[in-house]
Amino acid sequence: MAAKKLECVKVEKKNGIAWVLLNRPEKRNAMSPQLHFEMDETLKELETDPEVRCVVIAGNGGYFSAGQDLKEFFRENEKNPRGRKAAAEAANRWRWERLYKYDKPTIAMVEGYCVGGAFMQLCAVDFVVAANDTVFSLSEVNWGILPGALVSKVVSDTILPRHALYYACLGDPFDGKEAERIGLINFSVPKSQLVSKTVELAQKLMAKSPAVLRATKHAVRQVRTMDFDQSYDYLAAKGQAIKVGDTEDSYNTGLSQFLDEKSYKPTFEPFALKDAPKKSGKKSAKKAVKKAAKKKAGKKSARRR
Ligand code: COA
Repeated sequence: MAAKKLECVKVEKKNGIAWVLLNRPEKRNAMSPQLHFEMDETLKELETDPEVRCVVIAGNGGYFSAGQDLKEFFRENEKNPRGRKAAAEAANRWRWERLYKYDKPTIAMVEGYCVGGAFMQLCAVDFVVAANDTVFSLSEVNWGILPGALVSKVVSDTILPRHALYYACLGDPFDGKEAERIGLINFSVPKSQLVSKTVELAQKLMAKSPAVLRATKHAVRQVRTMDFDQSYDYLAAKGQAIKVGDTEDSYNTGLSQFLDEKSYKPTFEPFALKDAPKKSGKKSAKKAVKKAAKKKAGKKSARRR
């Protein structure tokens, strides 16, 4: 971890997951310049930490984040252009450049408040799980600015323009179910299930080949702004690039476990990794195959009836 002691960020590593918590609960995890510097450094460290296979961004004390700290990030920096620029650079780097292109899968676990500037990290991560009673709000219009940095851009790239306009222009709060309905997040769950559903998703991601998963998430993001010819070229080159440094030799291993060993079926599960984290591997793969066979048999006998 970073040599300097962290104050506004907490990191806990467990079973391959790094839980990165914004840590200013008394300010509803509003993001101060110091928090941005610490987050930027923390995410940089974790990206190459061999213990970490998946990063979860969350907030300490039950709050995701109340957005930029209106006092420390905005008002107190008004007359300090150097400080303001340094803080803005760090803020944008971790909330967008780092997370959007991160080499490992990232999940935001959202509860409490998710306001304003926190939509940057919300849209940058790969997946979002939120509690039903989370309060989301693009509050900027309510206190006199537009959703700046990249908030307007990333929100309108993530959800349909009508929803983006509605919530940006009205600044109305909405809950987890509404966030799920408009495609801002993946799942909204009861608060009691928030951690278990997040861990479940992380475990599924960690059971995939890291090299293939990395290339896949980068590819899905990059082709959005390419035309068809560019996409053909990019995807062919990216497909080849997976093989360089893929410690799992994923393509050959996957085919061999399916075609030769007949130990799993790719339709239902990934191939078993050499150093498989919990909940993956042949046992559960076999279980899925058995379950699928049972289902198929059931359908056949139903048809006969
Ligand atoms: N910036 C600075 N301070 C903030 C903050 C923010 N974005 N959000 C909360 N705080 C501070 C409050 O000023 C208060 O500080 P204090 O204890 O020194 O008075 C403390 O955090 C707790 O906030 P409080 O308003 O008492 O808690 P609450 O649970 O009743 O309400 C919010 C929480 C998030 C609904 C409310 O604080 C709010 O609307 N904050 C502004 C959020 C916002 O518009 N962010 C956009 C930034 S881009």
